[in-house]
Amino acid sequence: MSEAENVLRIRPDGPNVVTGDVVIVTPVRIREMKTAVLCRCGHSSDKPFCDGTHVKIGFADPAHMPTDAETGIESVGRVTITPQPNGPNKCEGPLTIRDAGGRNSACNSALLCRCGGSHTKPFCDGTHEKIGFTG
Ligand code: FES
Repeated sequence: MSEAENVLRIRPDGPNVVTGDVVIVTPVRIREMKTAVLCRCGHSSDKPFCDGTHVKIGFADPAHMPTDAETGIESVGRVTITPQPNGPNKCEGPLTIRDAGGRNSACNSALLCRCGGSHTKPFCDGTHEKIGFTG
């Protein structure tokens, strides 16, 4: 088993960049990756991956975690990320989420927004249903 450190960095006005021992599960493929750049604006044509569309649409988010997010580091092992149909990225396994201010949040299970509309980014708050996100 790998002893990689799994870190998901929230990029201001941009994607989530995950590094470590990462598995991305899509309906068509299971990919083991060391780095995955995941769309969080909701408009990539290559979902769940970023294709740079956030720049074209002017996606704006400062990449700060909610103040009540768990703090800490939890990141050794394998993390599996499964985009939910028309919904968030489901993350299972040890992962440290790091915001633009260097604040860390530890999790073993998380639903991360990929529609761009959550009011509690990087976490999903159910807004994807209200805005009819597809992907
Ligand atoms: S995926 Fe954006 S609020 Fe759920």
